[in-house]
Amino acid sequence: MIERLVVDIRRIVAEHATPEGAVAALSSRLRPLAEDRSWIAEDLYETDADQGFGITILHEEPADGFLLETVCWEPGRGVAPHDHQTWGVVMGLDGEEINVDWRRIDDGGEAGRATLERVAETVVTAGIVKTFSPNDIHSIRNDSDRPSLSLHLYGRSLAKIARSEFNPLAGTVAPCPRRVRRGD
Ligand SMILES: [Fe+2]
Repeated sequence: MIERLVVDIRRIVAEHATPEGAVAALSSRLRPLAEDRSWIAEDLYETDADQGFGITILHEEPADGFLLETVCWEPGRGVAPHDHQTWGVVMGLDGEEINVDWRRIDDGGEAGRATLERVAETVVTAGIVKTFSPNDIHSIRNDSDRPSLSLHLYGRSLAKIARSEFNPLAGTVAPCPRRVRRGD
């Protein structure tokens, strides 16, 4: 199932001149994976206790190509607002996670400082898709009492990109910490 998906992602990315065009087609291609979930192995629910979530790489395209992975969020855990510096498609597979979109409203003129405002909140459940542009900022939390699982597709391998993580309460921005990933 994943092998066929990877072939299709390659084709769809190559067929589209812009990432904006590709993410719409990729969203449609990912949807069946939330309907027939027989491919979801138990170990995709493994998490890193310190991090509060578990990332499993399903496919990393060579030569700085796309990255396909699942993320499992422990109940009550989440991640601070961050950007991706590439396009992204995220689809819920199981359980429920809250995606918060943020907008940066300062001019970026002061190093280490950033002011964010909340824009929207989406409850991501099985089959719900969110797409991201490189500078979009979002945070995730799992407020439910059981793990949530989602499928993530990014234009490039996130570990190889300089990204930012934000603290909206403190008004700060810093380099995004490197996440623990299975298969990295
Ligand atoms: Fe993210």
